[in-house]
Amino acid sequence: MARRFLFCASLFILTLEVSLAMGAPTNCGPIQATDTDRIEFALNLEFLEAEFFLNGALGRGLDSFAPSFAKGGPPPTGAKKANLDPLVAKIIEEFGYEEIGHLRAIINATGGIPRPLLDLSTQTFANIFNQAFGFKLTPPFDPYLNTVNYLLASNLIPYVGLVGYVGTIPELNSSYFRRLVAGLLGVEAGQDAVLRALLYERANEKVMPYDITVAEFTNRTAELKNRLAMCGIKDEGIIVPLFLGAENRTNSNILSANTDSLSYSRTPPEILRIVYGTGSENKPGGFYPNGAGGNIARRYLSPA
Ligand SMILES: *[C@@H]1O[C@H](CO)[C@@H](O)[C@H](O)[C@H]1NC(C)=O
Ligand SMILES: *[C@@H]1O[C@H](CO)[C@@H](O)[C@H](O)[C@H]1NC(C)=O
Ligand SMILES: *[C@@H]1O[C@H](CO)[C@@H](O)[C@H](O)[C@H]1NC(C)=O
Ligand SMILES: *[C@@H]1O[C@H](CO)[C@@H](O)[C@H](O)[C@H]1NC(C)=O
Repeated sequence: MARRFLFCASLFILTLEVSLAMGAPTNCGPIQATDTDRIEFALNLEFLEAEFFLNGALGRGLDSFAPSFAKGGPPPTGAKKANLDPLVAKIIEEFGYEEIGHLRAIINATGGIPRPLLDLSTQTFANIFNQAFGFKLTPPFDPYLNTVNYLLASNLIPYVGLVGYVGTIPELNSSYFRRLVAGLLGVEAGQDAVLRALLYERANEKVMPYDITVAEFTNRTAELKNRLAMCGIKDEGIIVPLFLGAENRTNSNILSANTDSLSYSRTPPEILRIVYGTGSENKPGGFYPNGAGGNIARRYLSPA
């Protein structure tokens, strides 16, 4: 009897330790939601990408191309034109227009949501990079300063959309919506691949004025995102140990994917933990100081 009690007690303590070590019980499983809510959730990321790319390439955002898409939501703060080389400026401009198309397609299919307040200020990015390294970069990281900084900052964004779409498709009931999301996924994946290839070309360059390579930056931001989302490795740097490379045979990692080279997937709560920068879908912050929009994101924002 006593022995059995001791056994149970130690099992309990073991379970407790494991869950504490994993950073408290965290849900990585599927959520309940309607097709419309799942797709409207994606608008949060599409707005973010549209504003970051359009402003970065052109110095003006969504409201100067398609003002009705914001449905009265406030304009972003802190976004501005980045100092990009001509090749990257052209690529980012195209990406920005692609996001306008994505917004149009989603809004047409679901009705849309007001654009949430987006904070795209240098300070927001600087905080993310400080968090990624675990110390303050000096001077603070400025995403708009030059091409490589902008690529490193951009690398944070379409990938989150991509893994979200991979997670969304199997949950959708309607083939109409599955077709839409498959189309969105293809282009997000393409954008991510282009950004990562451009970063890979520069992998061993130092990011000025820090004594840190581009590859190390991508590793640290990937690790940060994995830490915030708390659901294992689903985000990888551009140069990795062999066990994360394709078929365990290469340390180049232009595409981030699992052991069968299939894309990782993330749920909406995982995505919110990342884009809020707080590790909690209940605590807004980061790019979304007032929280993300739509029924899925709002359900996690308990009145504080
Ligand atoms: C889709 O199916 C799930 C159950 O499989 C259900 O919870 C959901 O409400 C369904 N309908 C819509 C419109 O998403
Ligand atoms: C808009 O949505 C309707 C269905 O709601 C669809 O038939 C139509 O093709 C869509 N149009 C565009 C331009 O996406
Ligand atoms: C980051 O780099 C370290 C050291 O090479 C490696 O162990 C880790 O797996 C990398 N993480 C990611 C997410 O790429
Ligand atoms: C690569 O290594 C990991 C363990 O580090 C293993 O789980 C996986 O099956 C290996 N993949 C292949 C294709 O051999």
